[in-house]
Amino acid sequence: DWNMGDFAKEEIERIKEKIGDKRAICALSGGVDSSVAAVLVHRAIGQNLTCIFVDHGLLRKDEGDQVEKIFTERFDMNLIRVNAQERFLSKLEGITDPEMKRKIIGEEFIRVFEEEKNKLKDIDYLVQGTIYPDVIESGTDKASVIKSHHNVGGLPEDVDFEIIEPLRELFKDEVRVLGRSLNIPEDVLMRQPFPGPGLAIRVLGEITEEKLHIVREADYIFREEIKRAGLDKDIWQYFAVLPNIKSVGVMGDGRTYAHTIALRAVNSSDGMTSDWARIPYEVLEKASNRIVNNVDGVNRIVYDITSKPPSTIEWE
Ligand code: XMP
Repeated sequence: DWNMGDFAKEEIERIKEKIGDKRAICALSGGVDSSVAAVLVHRAIGQNLTCIFVDHGLLRKDEGDQVEKIFTERFDMNLIRVNAQERFLSKLEGITDPEMKRKIIGEEFIRVFEEEKNKLKDIDYLVQGTIYPDVIESGTDKASVIKSHHNVGGLPEDVDFEIIEPLRELFKDEVRVLGRSLNIPEDVLMRQPFPGPGLAIRVLGEITEEKLHIVREADYIFREEIKRAGLDKDIWQYFAVLPNIKSVGVMGDGRTYAHTIALRAVNSSDGMTSDWARIPYEVLEKASNRIVNNVDGVNRIVYDITSKPPSTIEWE
């Protein structure tokens, strides 16, 4: 009987043998794949693995701190967190085109990573969380033409060290089982998909700190309500978008002119197609009330009822 515990043991031995007492780095995003790959290699070579976590300031509420905490406190890993918010924001200033945002973020990510890498000495290996579907998705599929899905975490190929991809033969579900056998917390393993460019593609048009703040707070409330309703395991992906529309509202005696927040929740098996989630009205109502009452600068909430196709899951 083949099980993941055995796979983990064998893989750890193999990595140990291969890397020996040389050193490796990895780019940790906090996503399922990079987390499992990092913990697996950490089991094999311990402090000879250094993880670089680039916080581009486009993560969800508290996410950066959570990633840092899990990997340093729980796993005692060597982690460098680069707080690069200002760098990314200034590069994105005035940029409204979605593909341009992706390109800028992808390039800046590589630049930050390389700078950190160059500060370290004697690195021979680079660990990547590539999984089997990434291997077969050669870039000729339709989705990658419609949107350039360069994952932030995708690194240049002409690197001067050997690449280690311990998850190369596994499907997502298997990565989760492996992660469980390595005691990685369930909220990391069951984390919903989150795009590499993060909230940059959920603030439509120009990104400002204020808009990022609004979408981050609204998203947090929406996710909390989904969780409270016990729907977090059932819905594939759910989040808030700031469409950059202002509309008229009324509050007390006064007229307001403020942002709209769109809520999006979809079911899908692989992100290629999706159906909008039939969330109970009561859950939408609670989320709506809490967002308008607690997030300054928002006076209207809409729910996205389009499937993919013809829409995409993200709005940009
Ligand atoms: P779309 O919006 O194309 O999204 O229907 C399909 C899935 O891919 C995610 N997505 C991205 N992931 N970089 C990523 O790493 C990106 O640029 C990107 N764009 C979309 C999206 O969240 C959904 O899960």
